[in-house]
Amino acid sequence: MQRRHFLASVAAGALAPRSSYAAQGDIRVFLNEPIGTVSPLLHGHFVEHLGGVVYDGIWVGEESKIPNVRGVRKALIDAMKALGPTVIRYPGGCFADSYDWRDGVGPRNTRPRKNNFWANSGILRKLPDNHVSRSDPNAFGTNEFLRFCKEVGSEPYLAANIRSLPARDFYDWVEYCNSPKGAGTLAERRAAWGDPEPWNVRFWGVGNESWGCGGNLTPEEYSVEFRKFISWTPNYGTPLAMIAAGPNGADYNWTHGFFQQMARKSPGMLRSVWGWALHYYCGRTGKGDSLDFTVQDFYELLERANRIEELITRHWGAMGEIDRDHRVKLVIDEWGAWHNDTTAVAPHHLFGSVPTMRDALIAGMTLDTFHRHADKIAMANVAQLVNCIQTLFLADGDKFCVTPTYHVFDMYKDHHKGQAVRSEFAAPRVDFTVDSKGQSVARLAGSASKNGNVVTLSAVNNSHNETLETSVALVGANVKSAKATVLAGGSMQAHNTFASPSAVKPAELAVSVSGGALRLTMPAASVVKVRVEVA
Ligand code: AHR
Repeated sequence: MQRRHFLASVAAGALAPRSSYAAQGDIRVFLNEPIGTVSPLLHGHFVEHLGGVVYDGIWVGEESKIPNVRGVRKALIDAMKALGPTVIRYPGGCFADSYDWRDGVGPRNTRPRKNNFWANSGILRKLPDNHVSRSDPNAFGTNEFLRFCKEVGSEPYLAANIRSLPARDFYDWVEYCNSPKGAGTLAERRAAWGDPEPWNVRFWGVGNESWGCGGNLTPEEYSVEFRKFISWTPNYGTPLAMIAAGPNGADYNWTHGFFQQMARKSPGMLRSVWGWALHYYCGRTGKGDSLDFTVQDFYELLERANRIEELITRHWGAMGEIDRDHRVKLVIDEWGAWHNDTTAVAPHHLFGSVPTMRDALIAGMTLDTFHRHADKIAMANVAQLVNCIQTLFLADGDKFCVTPTYHVFDMYKDHHKGQAVRSEFAAPRVDFTVDSKGQSVARLAGSASKNGNVVTLSAVNNSHNETLETSVALVGANVKSAKATVLAGGSMQAHNTFASPSAVKPAELAVSVSGGALRLTMPAASVVKVRVEVA
């Protein structure tokens, strides 16, 4: 089909009354129109000392009866390994700007208990003062985190405290992590605690949300702090990738302000910035309950999640006004749906909730957006790994399960290291109303990448109740074979629990190949991946 025809047929479909058609979707993948490599770092994670993320989502302790690898929950390690190597950000979040890394190193019985940044937030207020989520025992610190990363094959990304510690402490942390064996007291301390070899940590965040919990700075003030922290940081032979605390959602003023100030100091200054960290939470809708929501709440949240694309393109445009060669890439190091913690599985799971297929659709749409902008985004980190916002895992004591969001990451790992290619996803949009105002959201969205003779296509059907008869045309290659996988739970509220850990899990989906085109039926509220062999 000619492109003009294709778009015209979509428009005609969009005008048809809802009841008169079986929704149809058309996907076109242009294999000769590369965008950029899908870095595995786009599927990164985020771990903060917050609520139940570290204790006991990750850390159960070496003496625990819960199976563990040097204190870290083994079930989590096994499930993380299956996702393939990526990156994990730590120790925050807002917590990072209150954290002294020295509290989390050395023999555990000598580490101080410290009031956690989040101690008086939300549901934690109801817990005793000495609960681990409020009074942090520091049992999990730098060595434990770096061993965890190594165990699961992911790169660490450490966020430095710039609000309450001077640059000196940042340099010392870099020295502790990266200085050669025996090079000095900090390297010896690292060795004394079991890790003589340097970790060569590459990714360093310079503060977090410096416009808010990270110091309430202006972009001008932050650019001064940033320069102070990154100038002549000792690197011990590891090229350090410095990530600057970027904007909150649509705060374009923060992006303009920082980039202008950096360039004003000296034209080459922006070369010291590896990544510009955008945070975007699509939040919650309706009464904020992760399980009990209406059809309208469902579409409203999907539409909000989809706004991330506009944020990416507009911040990228703002960056490019000053950084004309686009040396600095975006790092979206916090994203996700943030429901109320009414469905948290334990009282210390601050910002915890039980995620459903709605969250899986958000994950699919968001990762697809990152792939489509693989030329602009260097890294992204879903918030947060376990027992928290948009979580991949739920854990409480010896109970553990993966969420629908986990399965999306698992399905989408086939994109890793592929070449993202331009693709078009066309289907009638879904209409809905918010406060009597008409709105709409894409019914069909996705991304495609090519790696050798394998094309990976992923897509969501956002309709809560309609299947989508979808045809896929690959422009630029011949289809040899295709295999499809689907994640659908039979309803938008479908979810996993400790009692039913496999209520939502991937299954095979029928796909037919005829005349070079693929045809498949995407169930309502589903995430689909198609692996196509081409010649
Ligand atoms: O992810 C929870 C919090 O959200 C993080 O600590 C902070 O950076 C953001 O506001």
